[in-house]
Amino acid sequence: MRMKQLTVLALIAFSVLACVDKEQEEKNEFIQENVTYAAAQTEKMLASVGEPTGKNYPRTMKDDGSLRTTNMYDWTPGFFPGSLWYLYELTGDDKWKADAEKWTASLEPLKTFTGHHDLGFMMYCSYGNAERLAPKPEYKDILIESAGSLSTRFSGKTQVIKSWNDFRPMNDDSTVYDYPVIIDNMMNLEMLFYASKISGDKRYYDIAVKHADMTIKNHFRDDFSTYHVISYDTISSNVVSKNTAQGFSDNSTWSRGQAWAIYGYTMTYRETNDKKYLDVATKAADYFIRNLPEDYVPLWDFNLGQEGYVPGKRSYAAEFKERLKDASAAAITCSALFELGQLTDNKFYIETAVKMLHSLASPEYRAPLGENADFLILHCVGSIPHRTEIDKPLVYADYYFLEALVRYKNLKK
Ligand code: GLY
Repeated sequence: MRMKQLTVLALIAFSVLACVDKEQEEKNEFIQENVTYAAAQTEKMLASVGEPTGKNYPRTMKDDGSLRTTNMYDWTPGFFPGSLWYLYELTGDDKWKADAEKWTASLEPLKTFTGHHDLGFMMYCSYGNAERLAPKPEYKDILIESAGSLSTRFSGKTQVIKSWNDFRPMNDDSTVYDYPVIIDNMMNLEMLFYASKISGDKRYYDIAVKHADMTIKNHFRDDFSTYHVISYDTISSNVVSKNTAQGFSDNSTWSRGQAWAIYGYTMTYRETNDKKYLDVATKAADYFIRNLPEDYVPLWDFNLGQEGYVPGKRSYAAEFKERLKDASAAAITCSALFELGQLTDNKFYIETAVKMLHSLASPEYRAPLGENADFLILHCVGSIPHRTEIDKPLVYADYYFLEALVRYKNLKK
Protein backbone atom coordinates (compact mmCIF):
# COMPACT_ATOMS: atom_id res chain seq x y z
CA MET A 1 0.00 0.00 0.00
CA ARG A 2 1.25 3.43 -0.83
CA MET A 3 2.06 6.01 1.80
CA LYS A 4 -0.85 8.22 0.77
CA GLN A 5 -3.40 5.37 1.15
CA LEU A 6 -1.97 4.44 4.53
CA THR A 7 -2.34 8.03 5.72
CA VAL A 8 -5.98 8.16 4.60
CA LEU A 9 -6.72 4.86 6.42
CA ALA A 10 -5.01 6.11 9.57
CA LEU A 11 -7.07 9.32 9.45
CA ILE A 12 -10.33 7.37 9.06
CA ALA A 13 -9.42 5.07 11.97
CA PHE A 14 -8.52 8.09 14.08
CA SER A 15 -11.81 9.89 13.41
CA VAL A 16 -13.86 6.72 14.11
CA LEU A 17 -12.06 6.31 17.44
CA ALA A 18 -12.54 10.00 18.28
CA CYS A 19 -16.24 9.64 17.50
CA VAL A 20 -16.58 6.54 19.74
CA ASP A 21 -14.73 8.38 22.53
CA LYS A 22 -17.02 11.38 22.19
CA GLU A 23 -20.13 9.18 22.30
CA GLN A 24 -18.81 7.42 25.41
CA GLU A 25 -18.02 10.76 27.03
CA GLU A 26 -21.54 12.08 26.32
CA LYS A 27 -23.05 8.89 27.71
CA ASN A 28 -20.94 9.14 30.90
CA GLU A 29 -21.89 12.80 31.35
CA PHE A 30 -25.59 12.01 30.84
CA ILE A 31 -25.49 9.23 33.42
CA GLN A 32 -23.45 11.26 35.90
CA GLU A 33 -25.76 14.28 35.66
CA ASN A 34 -28.82 12.08 36.26
CA VAL A 35 -27.22 10.23 39.15
CA THR A 36 -26.18 13.51 40.83
CA TYR A 37 -29.72 14.83 40.37
CA ALA A 38 -31.41 11.61 41.60
CA ALA A 39 -29.16 11.48 44.67
CA ALA A 40 -29.93 15.11 45.58
CA GLN A 41 -33.68 14.68 45.05
CA THR A 42 -33.76 11.41 47.04
CA GLU A 43 -31.82 13.06 49.91
CA LYS A 44 -34.74 15.47 50.12
CA MET A 45 -37.22 12.61 50.05
CA LEU A 46 -35.37 10.87 52.89
CA ALA A 47 -35.38 14.06 54.95
CA SER A 48 -39.11 14.50 54.39
CA VAL A 49 -40.12 10.89 55.06
CA GLY A 50 -37.94 10.27 58.14
CA GLU A 51 -37.09 6.82 59.49
CA PRO A 52 -39.04 3.76 58.24
CA THR A 53 -42.01 3.08 60.51
CA GLY A 54 -43.79 0.37 58.51
CA LYS A 55 -46.36 2.99 57.54
CA ASN A 56 -44.47 5.60 55.54
CA TYR A 57 -43.38 4.17 52.18
CA PRO A 58 -43.39 6.95 49.54
CA ARG A 59 -45.96 6.31 46.83
CA THR A 60 -47.11 9.54 45.13
CA MET A 61 -47.99 13.21 45.61
CA LYS A 62 -51.28 14.51 46.99
CA ASP A 63 -53.24 17.23 45.17
CA ASP A 64 -51.78 19.82 47.56
CA GLY A 65 -48.25 18.88 46.47
CA SER A 66 -47.30 16.98 49.64
CA LEU A 67 -45.96 13.43 49.83
CA ARG A 68 -48.40 10.53 50.02
CA THR A 69 -47.06 7.43 51.76
CA THR A 70 -48.58 3.98 52.33
CA ASN A 71 -48.26 1.24 54.88
CA MET A 72 -46.31 -1.90 53.97
CA TYR A 73 -49.38 -3.86 52.81
CA ASP A 74 -49.90 -1.71 49.74
CA TRP A 75 -48.39 -3.13 46.52
CA THR A 76 -45.63 -0.48 46.30
CA PRO A 77 -43.46 -0.50 49.50
CA GLY A 78 -40.55 -2.36 47.86
CA PHE A 79 -39.85 0.36 45.32
CA PHE A 80 -38.40 3.02 47.62
CA PRO A 81 -35.87 0.62 49.21
CA GLY A 82 -35.16 -0.63 45.68
CA SER A 83 -34.42 2.90 44.47
CA LEU A 84 -32.03 3.37 47.40
CA TRP A 85 -30.23 0.18 46.30
CA TYR A 86 -29.92 1.50 42.75
CA LEU A 87 -28.48 4.76 44.09
CA TYR A 88 -25.95 2.69 46.00
CA GLU A 89 -25.11 0.77 42.82
CA LEU A 90 -24.86 3.96 40.74
CA THR A 91 -22.76 5.95 43.23
CA GLY A 92 -20.84 3.28 45.17
CA ASP A 93 -21.46 5.48 48.22
CA ASP A 94 -22.00 3.50 51.47
CA LYS A 95 -24.41 6.16 52.69
CA TRP A 96 -27.02 4.78 50.26
CA LYS A 97 -26.29 1.23 51.35
CA ALA A 98 -27.05 2.08 54.97
CA ASP A 99 -30.37 3.71 54.04
CA ALA A 100 -31.25 0.88 51.65
CA GLU A 101 -30.55 -1.74 54.34
CA LYS A 102 -32.71 0.05 56.86
CA TRP A 103 -35.69 0.49 54.52
CA THR A 104 -35.37 -3.08 53.26
CA ALA A 105 -35.23 -4.58 56.75
CA SER A 106 -38.45 -2.77 57.66
CA LEU A 107 -40.31 -5.03 55.17
CA GLU A 108 -39.35 -8.35 56.76
CA PRO A 109 -42.86 -8.96 58.23
CA LEU A 110 -44.14 -9.24 54.65
CA LYS A 111 -42.41 -12.58 54.12
CA THR A 112 -45.57 -14.34 55.33
CA PHE A 113 -48.01 -12.01 53.57
CA THR A 114 -50.57 -13.69 51.31
CA GLY A 115 -53.20 -10.95 50.95
CA HIS A 116 -52.56 -10.19 47.25
CA HIS A 117 -50.14 -11.22 44.50
CA ASP A 118 -47.72 -8.29 44.64
CA LEU A 119 -45.18 -9.95 46.91
CA GLY A 120 -42.67 -10.12 44.06
CA PHE A 121 -42.69 -6.32 43.71
CA MET A 122 -42.65 -5.87 47.49
CA MET A 123 -39.83 -8.29 48.32
CA TYR A 124 -37.75 -8.74 45.18
CA CYS A 125 -37.27 -5.01 44.45
CA SER A 126 -36.11 -4.60 48.06
CA TYR A 127 -34.56 -7.87 49.30
CA GLY A 128 -33.65 -9.10 45.80
CA ASN A 129 -31.51 -6.03 45.19
CA ALA A 130 -30.16 -6.25 48.74
CA GLU A 131 -29.01 -9.83 48.19
CA ARG A 132 -27.48 -8.91 44.83
CA LEU A 133 -25.56 -5.86 46.07
CA ALA A 134 -24.75 -6.48 49.75
CA PRO A 135 -25.75 -10.05 50.72
CA LYS A 136 -26.53 -11.02 54.30
CA PRO A 137 -27.23 -14.59 55.46
CA GLU A 138 -30.86 -13.86 56.34
CA TYR A 139 -31.80 -12.38 52.95
CA LYS A 140 -31.97 -15.70 51.10
CA ASP A 141 -34.28 -17.24 53.72
CA ILE A 142 -36.55 -14.21 53.62
CA LEU A 143 -36.80 -14.42 49.82
CA ILE A 144 -37.50 -18.17 49.87
CA GLU A 145 -40.17 -17.72 52.52
CA SER A 146 -41.70 -14.89 50.46
CA ALA A 147 -41.76 -17.14 47.37
CA GLY A 148 -43.58 -19.76 49.47
CA SER A 149 -46.16 -17.18 50.54
CA LEU A 150 -46.72 -16.02 46.96
CA SER A 151 -47.05 -19.64 45.81
CA THR A 152 -50.06 -20.15 48.10
CA ARG A 153 -51.99 -18.07 45.55
CA PHE A 154 -51.27 -20.55 42.73
CA SER A 155 -53.92 -23.14 41.88
CA GLY A 156 -53.13 -26.39 40.13
CA LYS A 157 -56.60 -26.17 38.62
CA THR A 158 -56.36 -22.74 36.96
CA GLN A 159 -52.55 -23.00 36.52
CA VAL A 160 -52.15 -19.30 37.41
CA ILE A 161 -51.42 -17.18 40.47
CA LYS A 162 -54.52 -15.32 41.65
CA SER A 163 -53.90 -11.57 41.64
CA TRP A 164 -56.64 -9.99 43.71
CA ASN A 165 -59.15 -11.66 45.98
CA ASP A 166 -62.06 -10.35 43.94
CA PHE A 167 -62.78 -8.06 41.01
CA ARG A 168 -65.83 -6.03 39.96
CA PRO A 169 -65.76 -4.96 36.31
CA MET A 170 -66.47 -1.27 35.69
CA ASN A 171 -69.18 -2.12 33.15
CA ASP A 172 -71.31 -4.22 35.44
CA ASP A 173 -72.84 -3.51 38.87
CA SER A 174 -73.78 -7.03 39.85
CA THR A 175 -70.85 -9.33 38.98
CA VAL A 176 -67.95 -10.14 41.27
CA TYR A 177 -65.21 -12.44 39.95
CA ASP A 178 -63.25 -14.42 42.50
CA TYR A 179 -60.19 -15.50 40.48
CA PRO A 180 -58.87 -12.43 38.64
CA VAL A 181 -55.38 -12.45 37.13
CA ILE A 182 -53.81 -9.25 35.86
CA ILE A 183 -51.01 -8.91 33.31
CA ASP A 184 -48.93 -7.12 36.00
CA ASN A 185 -48.61 -10.49 37.75
CA MET A 186 -45.85 -11.51 35.31
CA MET A 187 -43.56 -9.25 37.35
CA ASN A 188 -43.90 -11.40 40.47
CA LEU A 189 -42.35 -14.42 38.75
CA GLU A 190 -38.77 -13.15 39.03
CA MET A 191 -38.75 -13.87 42.75
CA LEU A 192 -40.04 -17.42 42.11
CA PHE A 193 -37.26 -18.13 39.58
CA TYR A 194 -34.72 -16.79 42.06
CA ALA A 195 -36.11 -18.84 44.97
CA SER A 196 -35.84 -22.03 42.91
CA LYS A 197 -32.23 -21.28 42.05
CA ILE A 198 -31.12 -20.69 45.61
CA SER A 199 -33.26 -23.33 47.33
CA GLY A 200 -33.06 -26.07 44.70
CA ASP A 201 -36.85 -26.40 45.03
CA LYS A 202 -38.16 -26.65 41.46
CA ARG A 203 -41.74 -26.02 42.58
CA TYR A 204 -41.34 -22.23 42.33
CA TYR A 205 -39.84 -22.49 38.83
CA ASP A 206 -42.70 -24.72 37.70
CA ILE A 207 -45.32 -22.33 39.06
CA ALA A 208 -43.66 -19.41 37.28
CA VAL A 209 -43.55 -21.25 33.95
CA LYS A 210 -47.15 -22.45 34.22
CA HIS A 211 -48.32 -18.94 35.04
CA ALA A 212 -46.34 -17.47 32.11
CA ASP A 213 -47.82 -20.08 29.73
CA MET A 214 -51.44 -19.50 30.76
CA THR A 215 -50.86 -15.76 30.49
CA ILE A 216 -49.66 -16.18 26.89
CA LYS A 217 -52.78 -18.18 26.15
CA ASN A 218 -55.32 -15.79 27.63
CA HIS A 219 -53.96 -12.25 28.00
CA PHE A 220 -52.70 -11.59 24.47
CA ARG A 221 -54.56 -10.59 21.33
CA ASP A 222 -53.37 -11.50 17.82
CA ASP A 223 -51.33 -8.26 17.56
CA PHE A 224 -49.68 -9.01 20.95
CA SER A 225 -51.46 -6.20 22.73
CA THR A 226 -52.79 -7.23 26.14
CA TYR A 227 -55.97 -7.48 28.17
CA HIS A 228 -55.52 -6.23 31.70
CA VAL A 229 -57.72 -8.56 33.80
CA ILE A 230 -58.61 -12.16 32.98
CA SER A 231 -61.06 -13.87 35.34
CA TYR A 232 -61.06 -17.66 35.67
CA ASP A 233 -63.72 -20.11 36.75
CA THR A 234 -62.20 -22.08 39.62
CA ILE A 235 -64.19 -25.25 38.84
CA SER A 236 -63.81 -25.54 35.07
CA SER A 237 -60.64 -23.35 34.92
CA ASN A 238 -62.17 -21.63 31.87
CA VAL A 239 -61.76 -17.92 31.25
CA VAL A 240 -65.04 -16.28 32.24
CA SER A 241 -64.34 -12.65 31.46
CA LYS A 242 -61.76 -10.28 29.92
CA ASN A 243 -61.80 -6.78 31.36
CA THR A 244 -59.79 -3.79 32.38
CA ALA A 245 -59.37 -2.24 35.80
CA GLN A 246 -56.98 0.61 35.02
CA GLY A 247 -57.25 0.91 31.25
CA PHE A 248 -59.66 2.94 29.10
CA SER A 249 -62.03 0.09 28.20
CA ASP A 250 -62.28 -3.67 28.53
CA ASN A 251 -60.94 -4.25 25.00
CA SER A 252 -58.24 -1.55 25.07
CA THR A 253 -54.52 -1.81 25.83
CA TRP A 254 -53.53 -0.10 29.05
CA SER A 255 -49.98 1.09 28.43
CA ARG A 256 -48.55 0.15 31.82
CA GLY A 257 -50.06 -3.32 31.44
CA GLN A 258 -48.25 -3.67 28.11
CA ALA A 259 -45.05 -2.49 29.82
CA TRP A 260 -45.41 -5.18 32.51
CA ALA A 261 -45.86 -7.77 29.74
CA ILE A 262 -42.68 -6.69 27.91
CA TYR A 263 -40.63 -6.65 31.11
CA GLY A 264 -42.18 -9.88 32.43
CA TYR A 265 -41.58 -11.96 29.29
CA THR A 266 -38.07 -10.56 28.76
CA MET A 267 -37.23 -11.62 32.33
CA THR A 268 -38.93 -15.02 31.82
CA TYR A 269 -36.81 -15.61 28.71
CA ARG A 270 -33.66 -14.66 30.66
CA GLU A 271 -34.57 -17.15 33.41
CA THR A 272 -35.68 -20.05 31.19
CA ASN A 273 -33.82 -19.56 27.92
CA ASP A 274 -37.04 -20.66 26.21
CA LYS A 275 -37.48 -18.85 22.88
CA LYS A 276 -41.28 -18.88 23.11
CA TYR A 277 -41.04 -16.21 25.84
CA LEU A 278 -38.61 -14.18 23.76
CA ASP A 279 -41.11 -14.28 20.90
CA VAL A 280 -43.83 -12.84 23.16
CA ALA A 281 -41.49 -10.21 24.63
CA THR A 282 -40.40 -8.94 21.21
CA LYS A 283 -43.92 -8.88 19.75
CA ALA A 284 -45.30 -7.09 22.82
CA ALA A 285 -42.39 -4.62 22.63
CA ASP A 286 -42.97 -4.06 18.92
CA TYR A 287 -46.63 -3.22 19.62
CA PHE A 288 -45.58 -0.71 22.31
CA ILE A 289 -42.89 0.93 20.15
CA ARG A 290 -45.13 1.09 17.06
CA ASN A 291 -47.71 3.01 19.06
CA LEU A 292 -45.39 5.55 20.69
CA PRO A 293 -45.66 9.27 20.04
CA GLU A 294 -42.62 11.34 19.06
CA ASP A 295 -41.34 11.80 22.60
CA TYR A 296 -41.32 8.02 23.35
CA VAL A 297 -43.72 8.35 26.30
CA PRO A 298 -47.09 6.69 25.62
CA LEU A 299 -50.59 7.87 26.38
CA TRP A 300 -51.92 6.12 29.48
CA ASP A 301 -53.90 3.81 27.19
CA PHE A 302 -53.01 3.02 23.59
CA ASN A 303 -56.66 3.10 22.47
CA LEU A 304 -57.68 6.23 24.32
CA GLY A 305 -60.79 7.76 22.75
CA GLN A 306 -60.62 5.53 19.65
CA GLU A 307 -63.73 4.26 17.93
CA GLY A 308 -64.88 0.92 19.30
CA TYR A 309 -63.44 1.51 22.79
CA VAL A 310 -65.99 2.46 25.44
CA PRO A 311 -65.23 2.89 29.16
CA GLY A 312 -67.34 0.98 31.70
CA LYS A 313 -70.22 2.91 33.23
CA ARG A 314 -68.56 3.24 36.65
CA SER A 315 -65.24 4.33 35.14
CA TYR A 316 -64.07 7.92 35.55
CA ALA A 317 -62.43 7.49 32.12
CA ALA A 318 -65.90 8.11 30.64
CA GLU A 319 -65.86 11.71 31.94
CA PHE A 320 -62.16 12.41 31.83
CA LYS A 321 -61.22 14.07 28.56
CA GLU A 322 -57.53 15.04 28.85
CA ARG A 323 -55.11 13.00 26.73
CA LEU A 324 -52.51 12.34 29.39
CA LYS A 325 -49.24 10.44 29.12
CA ASP A 326 -48.05 7.80 31.58
CA ALA A 327 -44.32 8.20 32.13
CA SER A 328 -44.28 5.14 34.42
CA ALA A 329 -45.12 2.92 31.41
CA ALA A 330 -42.17 4.45 29.57
CA ALA A 331 -39.78 3.94 32.52
CA ILE A 332 -40.70 0.24 32.88
CA THR A 333 -40.44 -0.36 29.14
CA CYS A 334 -37.18 1.57 28.89
CA SER A 335 -35.56 -0.69 31.46
CA ALA A 336 -37.02 -3.80 29.79
CA LEU A 337 -35.79 -2.76 26.34
CA PHE A 338 -32.22 -2.42 27.61
CA GLU A 339 -32.42 -6.05 28.72
CA LEU A 340 -34.27 -7.25 25.60
CA GLY A 341 -31.73 -5.47 23.38
CA GLN A 342 -28.83 -7.04 25.26
CA LEU A 343 -30.30 -10.55 25.27
CA THR A 344 -31.01 -10.46 21.54
CA ASP A 345 -28.10 -8.26 20.48
CA ASN A 346 -30.72 -6.00 18.87
CA LYS A 347 -29.53 -2.44 18.29
CA PHE A 348 -33.01 -1.11 17.58
CA TYR A 349 -34.29 -1.97 21.08
CA ILE A 350 -31.20 -0.44 22.70
CA GLU A 351 -31.48 2.73 20.63
CA THR A 352 -35.18 3.01 21.49
CA ALA A 353 -34.38 2.55 25.19
CA VAL A 354 -31.72 5.28 25.01
CA LYS A 355 -34.16 7.70 23.33
CA MET A 356 -36.81 6.88 25.94
CA LEU A 357 -34.35 7.44 28.77
CA HIS A 358 -33.29 10.80 27.33
CA SER A 359 -36.94 11.82 27.04
CA LEU A 360 -37.64 10.81 30.66
CA ALA A 361 -34.56 12.75 31.79
CA SER A 362 -35.61 15.88 29.86
CA PRO A 363 -37.30 18.83 31.63
CA GLU A 364 -40.65 17.63 30.26
CA TYR A 365 -40.55 14.49 32.44
CA ARG A 366 -37.87 15.00 35.09
CA ALA A 367 -38.93 17.10 38.05
CA PRO A 368 -36.97 20.19 39.11
CA LEU A 369 -35.00 19.64 42.33
CA GLY A 370 -37.19 20.02 45.42
CA GLU A 371 -40.47 19.78 43.48
CA ASN A 372 -42.84 16.88 42.70
CA ALA A 373 -42.90 15.90 46.43
CA ASP A 374 -39.22 14.93 45.84
CA PHE A 375 -40.02 12.17 43.34
CA LEU A 376 -37.93 12.10 40.16
CA ILE A 377 -40.40 11.57 37.32
CA LEU A 378 -43.40 13.74 36.43
CA HIS A 379 -46.60 12.95 34.49
CA CYS A 380 -47.59 9.45 35.52
CA VAL A 381 -51.04 7.95 35.84
CA GLY A 382 -52.07 5.53 38.59
CA SER A 383 -55.66 4.83 37.61
CA ILE A 384 -57.92 7.20 35.72
CA PRO A 385 -60.93 4.81 35.96
CA HIS A 386 -60.61 5.00 39.78
CA ARG A 387 -59.85 8.75 39.68
CA THR A 388 -56.55 8.29 41.51
CA GLU A 389 -53.00 9.54 40.84
CA ILE A 390 -53.82 11.49 37.69
CA ASP A 391 -50.77 13.27 36.25
CA LYS A 392 -48.74 12.60 39.39
CA PRO A 393 -45.36 11.10 40.27
CA LEU A 394 -45.31 7.39 41.14
CA VAL A 395 -42.62 5.65 43.17
CA TYR A 396 -42.33 2.82 40.64
CA ALA A 397 -41.66 5.21 37.75
CA ASP A 398 -38.62 6.42 39.72
CA TYR A 399 -37.52 2.85 40.49
CA TYR A 400 -37.56 1.72 36.84
CA PHE A 401 -35.97 5.00 35.70
CA LEU A 402 -33.04 4.31 38.05
CA GLU A 403 -32.92 0.67 36.97
CA ALA A 404 -32.78 1.83 33.33
CA LEU A 405 -29.86 4.12 34.23
CA VAL A 406 -28.04 1.17 35.82
CA ARG A 407 -28.69 -0.99 32.75
CA TYR A 408 -27.55 1.79 30.40
CA LYS A 409 -24.38 2.28 32.43
CA ASN A 410 -23.62 -1.46 32.42
CA LEU A 411 -24.41 -1.94 28.75
CA LYS A 412 -21.82 -4.06 27.02
CA LYS A 413 -20.75 -2.82 23.63
N1 GLY B 1 -49.62 -3.23 39.49
C1 GLY B 1 -50.51 -2.13 39.60
C2 GLY B 1 -50.23 -1.05 38.66
O1 GLY B 1 -49.41 -1.15 37.78
O2 GLY B 1 -50.86 -0.01 38.79
